[in-house]
Amino acid sequence: MQTTNRRHWIKQASLAIAGIGFAAESFGHAPKMMPPGPNIRLSANENPYGPSPFARKAMTDMVTLSNRYPFSDLTGQVRERIGKEHQLDKEHVLLGAGSSEILGLVAQLAASRQGNAVSANPTFGIWWTAAQRGGLNITKVPLTAGKGHDLPAMLAAINSDTRLVYVCNPNNPTGTITETMALKEFITTVSQQTMVLLDEAYIEYCDEPSLASMVASNKNIIVAKTFSKIYGMAGARIGYALAHPETIRQLGQFQPWENAGASRVSLAGALASLDDTAFVSDSKKWNAGAREYTRKELEKLNIRTIPSHANFLYLSVNDYPQDYHARLAANHILGGRMVEEEGRWARITIGTGEEMKAYIRALQ
Ligand SMILES: Cc1ncc(COP(=O)(O)O)c(C=O)c1O
Repeated sequence: MQTTNRRHWIKQASLAIAGIGFAAESFGHAPKMMPPGPNIRLSANENPYGPSPFARKAMTDMVTLSNRYPFSDLTGQVRERIGKEHQLDKEHVLLGAGSSEILGLVAQLAASRQGNAVSANPTFGIWWTAAQRGGLNITKVPLTAGKGHDLPAMLAAINSDTRLVYVCNPNNPTGTITETMALKEFITTVSQQTMVLLDEAYIEYCDEPSLASMVASNKNIIVAKTFSKIYGMAGARIGYALAHPETIRQLGQFQPWENAGASRVSLAGALASLDDTAFVSDSKKWNAGAREYTRKELEKLNIRTIPSHANFLYLSVNDYPQDYHARLAANHILGGRMVEEEGRWARITIGTGEEMKAYIRALQ
């Protein structure tokens, strides 16, 4: 970001926008935001610093035009801008009210062809129910011992009835990353046979590149992206699919009104967010600092963690002598549930430095 932009950002950020101020923390100068309600929310992988100041301003400014549908001006502009972000065209982009809508659309498209879907387990299985209701059997392939995707086992699980293969990278809830070359090769191989859905909800938090460009010439690859994570707009509900125009057309047929799920306000926020690269890199940096602090402190408490490439940690409370979830509840911390009973694995979202200090204090 240029110096003038950066100065503007700092000025914007320091404006007294409802409930927002700055605090110098040991994790860098991260903005301090008030959470909605009395609890510390470490359960939904939200960005505790967002939306970016530019996005907040753009959304506030757009509110008064909420009497107007966005399709004649804004929708196309946002699709074009998103396309540009990934060296693709507007025709490669389908907007949704969050990327969970996109995952649902892909599940419906795959289910319309009947058969099975292959997915790692545990992963972000929000689309499983829609897929099963539509008639797809889900073949769940266990993660490796290191809690990453077992690509050879997933390949072996694919058969002539497989209509969809889902890969979440980095994986939710484990935070593991699949190495780029191996993933590229896997997607190339699988897409010769069936549809691949790559979920990159957390890719901006890690150092690996997005594989979005793979959709340009391959009709069998869909990449799902969201503004809910590093862009800090989970409450605004906007996400998108990137795919070949022909695949975008097919997915759009499962929407009651193509590209119309995102509001004018969230579209304005998305546009501004994409230009605020400083907010994205700061969020990444603040998250990494708080995550490393949390990892080290958990280690001291005999709580094993999996190396994470996202804004959450996967941890085993097997050797923790107290009731982990009871400790969180007693300290008004929303920390999710047990994901895997065996090994007693749970996930914790990385909040602000202060929030993570409170979390560690609750466990001590
Ligand atoms: C891996 C993954 N994909 C997609 C989503 C959906 O996010 P949204 O619908 O808010 O875009 C989430 C939300 O937690 C997620 O973890």
